[in-house]
Amino acid sequence: MPATVVVGTQWGDEGKGKFTDLVAKEMHMVVRYQGGHNAGHTLVVNGETFALQLVPSGILYDHITPVIGNGVVVDPRVLLEELDMLSSKGVDTSLLKVSGNAHLILPYHQEIDRVTERYLGKNKIGTTKRGIGPAYADKASRVGLRVQDLLDPKIFRQKLDVVVKEKNAILAKVYNQLPQSADDIAEQYLGECRERIEPMITDTVNLVHEALELDHHVLLEGAQATFLDLDHGTYPYVTSSNPVAGGACVGAGIGPRFITRVIGIAKAYVTRVGSGPFPTELFDEVGDLLVERGGEYGTNTGRRRRPGWFDAVMLRHAVRLNSLSEVALTKLDVLDTLDTVKVCVAYEIDGTRIEHLPYHQSDLHKAKPIYEQLPGWGEDLSEATERHHLPSRARDYIAFLEAQVGVPISLVGVGPGREQFLHFAA
Ligand code: GDP
Ligand code: IMO
Ligand code: MG
Repeated sequence: MPATVVVGTQWGDEGKGKFTDLVAKEMHMVVRYQGGHNAGHTLVVNGETFALQLVPSGILYDHITPVIGNGVVVDPRVLLEELDMLSSKGVDTSLLKVSGNAHLILPYHQEIDRVTERYLGKNKIGTTKRGIGPAYADKASRVGLRVQDLLDPKIFRQKLDVVVKEKNAILAKVYNQLPQSADDIAEQYLGECRERIEPMITDTVNLVHEALELDHHVLLEGAQATFLDLDHGTYPYVTSSNPVAGGACVGAGIGPRFITRVIGIAKAYVTRVGSGPFPTELFDEVGDLLVERGGEYGTNTGRRRRPGWFDAVMLRHAVRLNSLSEVALTKLDVLDTLDTVKVCVAYEIDGTRIEHLPYHQSDLHKAKPIYEQLPGWGEDLSEATERHHLPSRARDYIAFLEAQVGVPISLVGVGPGREQFLHFAA
């Protein structure tokens, strides 16, 4: 009956896709538990790159049942495009199940996301403009349409008419935009789209529990990350769901006692896309080097990711928020050419040294990182497959992070490929 959670520990793009794929090998089922196609999870298998947005990262194995859980927001058109892309690459997608309780992202969500960001001007969140926030807002306001509504076109249309009327009033009166047509939306979603999605719609809570009762191992795949969490992240510069490990229970429909392992994915440095505080952000040539060597451009939106040094203060907080049992450290190879590497071990706020994340966000905006400096290793790590292949200074760096963070670093990524990792735990 064990379940494992994979969760991002920073601001996203830590390499959750790669490590979910890796861990999935030993699992029976992989469930995405929140977010939508704001996620971009990249897997590189036999030189071929797969960029996944909605489909769980276990899809590449034939033995895995991939599940989109109730906590996800689904744009069915994007889902079908993704499935077509996978099929064209020879991936069998026939086992995918989608929760009937997952909420739909509809065209007006995307439009509202776009105009709200414009309205916010310099205070914008920097969202992916995928309609994520507006779709979750409708869920909380109890006017959302769910995947199961596709099963009943009459109900779908009734709900749509009510909500489109309200959205059009807002679009016209607040944002001076043209109205959306309920007829067009119904035509788009209730035609071929509905026909193709219908066989995938499932009571996924039941499915997950049947698997757990058979002692099958279930992997719960988070999107986004701890500091983009609606409750625990750097609000308002966050996403509109709960990526933290606790969100996995809600978004998959299981209780916490099933979860026996929580793997936090952390990059050997930090990146962030969009607005918001970032104490260790780099604006110099080291930052440029991290972006270029790390290929730090959004999988989805192509935006340059903001780079910075590893922040142990954040990671210690992520350990608490998620009950991390271990950390998988990714992209160590990106640091290969640096003479020195820095780790933020504490913040200075108004002249005081603080070793934990400040409670008041104004303090986080003022936080100056206090760094420890370690020597670089100046060697190519991309071929390392075992702990002893790493130069001692790279091992020292990992050991230093481990001591700072307080949980074992079990896996280390040294390249984007499925095989480019090593077990670090002694
Ligand atoms: P996710 O959103 O957390 O799944 O991460 P993304 O896929 O958005 O971004 C991570 C990027 O780093 C992808 O391009 C991966 O192929 C790549 N990647 C993952 N692990 C490693 C690693 O250990 N080393 C290097 N160089 N690249 C990696
Ligand atoms: P993965 O799963 C990095 C960021 C956006 C923006 C904020 C809110 O690939 O790690 P949203 O569209 O969710 O309302 O945007 O969250 N963001 C991500 N940043 N990786 C992601 O996903 C992200 N998903 C959302 O850039 O700052
Ligand atoms: Mg990503």
